[in-house]
Amino acid sequence: MKAIILENAGGVENLIIKDIAQPTPNDHEVLVKVKAISVNPVDYKVRRNNDVIDKFMGKERPVILGWDIAGTVTAVGNKVSQFKTGDQVFGMVNFPGKGNAYAEYVAAPEHHLAIIPSSISFEVAAASTLAALTALQVLQPRVKKGDRVLIHAGSGGVGHFAIQIAKALGAYVVTTSSAKNKDFVMALGADEHIDYKAQAFEDVLSDMDFVLDMFRGSILFNSLKVTKEGGTVISLPTGDFDEQTIALAKARKINLSWVLVQSSAKDMNTLAQMLQEGSLKPHVSKLIPFAKMDQAHLELESGRTVGKIVVSV
Ligand SMILES: NC(=O)c1ccc[n+]([C@@H]2O[C@H](COP(=O)([O-])OP(=O)(O)OC[C@H]3O[C@@H](n4cnc5c(N)ncnc54)[C@H](OP(=O)(O)O)[C@@H]3O)[C@@H](O)[C@H]2O)c1
Repeated sequence: MKAIILENAGGVENLIIKDIAQPTPNDHEVLVKVKAISVNPVDYKVRRNNDVIDKFMGKERPVILGWDIAGTVTAVGNKVSQFKTGDQVFGMVNFPGKGNAYAEYVAAPEHHLAIIPSSISFEVAAASTLAALTALQVLQPRVKKGDRVLIHAGSGGVGHFAIQIAKALGAYVVTTSSAKNKDFVMALGADEHIDYKAQAFEDVLSDMDFVLDMFRGSILFNSLKVTKEGGTVISLPTGDFDEQTIALAKARKINLSWVLVQSSAKDMNTLAQMLQEGSLKPHVSKLIPFAKMDQAHLELESGRTVGKIVVSV
């Protein structure tokens, strides 16, 4: 089968297509013939840095990047009970860990997958994995009806799911993006938009119950200022907050933490149900062929992605 191999951290030229042996599923895994893969900022963060590869995937090289797949089950392990050959499945495989998703076939634990609803394409299903799971796992336990919620970068992968999930939970949603994406985020259900290039959100917002931060630095620091006492700020990039940020959170009695998304069939099934009902509408802004994975990484690294970029296999 064809797979995209990374021997060493570096630029997109290090993503090399090779013929390698198909994986064999263990007792609890299914073999998925992959139809679509979605890419996420973590893909290029891992690609660029050997220490980050070690952290997510261990010391062995080469590695196969990627975690988000949609495809058809072609074989099942001896102890698999939920799936059979021919099922169409999607999920975030082994995150954090070795997803091995940039390949024509992926061996995936059955407890990381769900059945794709009949009305949903492989491309849309692949889009509704890591970014959607992140939004769900962060918001569902923390946001309640009537909360004032700020979602930064509402036009991006996580943000565009987070707006929809926060609205489904009954929150009042404010979101940031540049002006060109205002119509997109309002159509997703946001109640208010702030163009971060024209207006500082900390000058116009206060009393937020919950903030989802995608950036750290001054955006995280100012998010703490607009959150009410006892409120919550979740920051996605990393959990190594600087002393000034920790001190402000403490002084303002704000629950500040980092959350790392985890593979989960239970949560994938929640997303499948939302897709089927139509309460979650993923946006695939670019579909890129497998052979152009380098282009998918470069697009993503521009920081301008609207919704999701999906790679077709
Ligand atoms: N901890 C976890 O488990 C976890 C999970 C998922 C993601 N993450 C992290 O979360 C971050 C976001 O991920 P993502 O997939 O949503 O990224 P993304 O899709 O690449 O985000 C792109 C969006 O960010 C917007 N943007 C850029 N600068 C902005 C700013 N200053 N203010 C507001 N919006 C801005 C852009 O809109 P404009 O073009 O309009 O500026 C664009 O639509 C990444 O660092 C990722 O690694 C962490």
